[in-house]
Amino acid sequence: MRRIRSGGRGVAVAVVLIGGLLAAGVLRAPALTSEVVLYSARHYGQEPAFEAFTRKTGIAIKILNGSTGEMFERLKAEGDKSPADVLLTVDAGNLWNAARAGLLQKIDSPELQASVPPNLRDPEMRWVGLTVRARTIMYNPKKVQPSELSTYEALGDPKWKGRLCLRTSGYIYNQSLIATLIKRQGEARTEEIVRGWAQNQPVIITNDTKILEGIAAGQCDVGLTNHYYLARLVAKDPAFPVAPFWANQSTTGTHVNVSGAGVTAHAKNRANALKLLEFLAGAEAQQMFADVGFEFPVNPQAGVNPIVARWGKFRQDDISIAAAGEFQAAATRLADRAGYR
Ligand SMILES: [Fe+2]
Repeated sequence: MRRIRSGGRGVAVAVVLIGGLLAAGVLRAPALTSEVVLYSARHYGQEPAFEAFTRKTGIAIKILNGSTGEMFERLKAEGDKSPADVLLTVDAGNLWNAARAGLLQKIDSPELQASVPPNLRDPEMRWVGLTVRARTIMYNPKKVQPSELSTYEALGDPKWKGRLCLRTSGYIYNQSLIATLIKRQGEARTEEIVRGWAQNQPVIITNDTKILEGIAAGQCDVGLTNHYYLARLVAKDPAFPVAPFWANQSTTGTHVNVSGAGVTAHAKNRANALKLLEFLAGAEAQQMFADVGFEFPVNPQAGVNPIVARWGKFRQDDISIAAAGEFQAAATRLADRAGYR
């Protein structure tokens, strides 16, 4: 494995050549005759699946890591000269933006259509979800009874005034949550909901892990985060004093989002790109994602990590996650009007 840090524009470039292990005779696999170039803005828990892909196919994966914004700018600037074959990133809102900007091409793959449920992929097949994350209510069990919790909407109840921790409204995870609320309930009702949150004067915290630590430390009693951040903390400390509550079980189901990928518009190794996506959505890689990254598989043939399974089965909102993109601009304007920054 070789890591290279590039100079310009602060983009951390990590070229990971899994072929090194093969050449060293560590792994048995077909000779490396081809490659696939991946631009990745997803940075947690995918390495075992990538290594398994190379072992199985002999196709080397070259990875360039950066933020979603950096990857978009790079793809736009490179145009048809781009070496990228696959864009991997978090949040359907980001994938939708990439598709709308013309950075992705349509994928023709019955295998992917079979592996990934329709609500977790682009209706036009320019991207597919690869892992599922629930954004739900987190609480301090010493201060809150689960019977006091119910829905995202109810976090606007005055009883939570000064007790709520949220990330900014501008962060993509919250934009997507608000966007799907708009799709489900319309703008007027969603604005009431978000105004309720804002009127509770939430403590605004810069990332999900810090929200969970804030709840544990008594800074607030409830918050909204993605489930895998809690799983990571519980994996390190099984007694970590925060519990998840699956929101909206008697209404729409808990909001879920995806990390996912698409084949870039100017992919030079298109067939390999397709093979990679098909592999990542297959049962073997899906199990690795669940085991290492604590997310839910998109493919029902894979199981859930035991730490997450302990939190019980729950109903996921089955709305098409493309709504996160369709209503993204509306969500931003709405949060502004409602006074949620
Ligand atoms: Fe995340």
